[in-house]
Amino acid sequence: MHPAIAIDGPAASGKSTVAKLIADRLGYTFINTGAMYRAVTWYMLEQGINPADTAAVLESLPSVPLSFGKDGSRSVVLYGQHVLGEELTSRQVNDHVSTIAAIPEVRALLVERQREYNRREPVVMEGRDIGTVVFPDTPFKYFVTASEEVRAARRAAEGLTDSIAERDRKDSSRATAPLAQAPDALLVDTSDMTIDQVVRFITDNIQQKLSSR
Ligand code: CDP
Ligand code: CDP
Repeated sequence: MHPAIAIDGPAASGKSTVAKLIADRLGYTFINTGAMYRAVTWYMLEQGINPADTAAVLESLPSVPLSFGKDGSRSVVLYGQHVLGEELTSRQVNDHVSTIAAIPEVRALLVERQREYNRREPVVMEGRDIGTVVFPDTPFKYFVTASEEVRAARRAAEGLTDSIAERDRKDSSRATAPLAQAPDALLVDTSDMTIDQVVRFITDNIQQKLSSR
């Protein structure tokens, strides 16, 4: 079985940034699961489907023309031949992604794709339910967080409008696979840590565990 590194946490805690760097250091593939939920949201909005209309979302879900691949050592979402990029971080997608991500059928579809990556290779995967649902048996679980003020400042510094408090509230309170720290996950509060310190702390912990297996 290939190792699966699970990195979960609230919005703008630094998950993607550190997960990507950890993946580079270990030579593993970096999987951004938020991009998968964002892509489904983007597609529904493109089709004029109201994300709150669950029946309409479910009707078009089986024929969503998205595929989940790789570009080098990172995951990408493709719409036909086109790799989705900036579309995924628009204000509209930010505002609706938590509604789409609360639909159990959407989650079941994407969780299956996420596990497929790890059947082929070792991965560093970041999201909200990686340690709790996607890979509950992995010994490598990290819950990366930071104070709400620090996270809001980090997102604002990127020049993005994002209601992170509202998304966190919805993500934590949904019935299926809510944002939560797995009981066996290591909590990493990054409020006063640089990116490099977080990457080193988590990579050292992974390497210790790998060498004692
Ligand atoms: O980068 P940021 O933390 O702002 O968000 P993201 O990781 O791109 O995730 C966007 C949204 O997708 C989250 O607010 C969740 O609603 C949903 N999501 C999820 O439900 N489960 C995951 N494993 C990953 C993302
Ligand atoms: O994926 P997630 O939404 O959790 O966060 P991100 O997009 O990786 O990081 C949000 C911003 O915080 C980025 O601009 C990072 O460079 C920054 N960051 C930071 O300043 N200090 C850290 N320890 C981690 C991330």
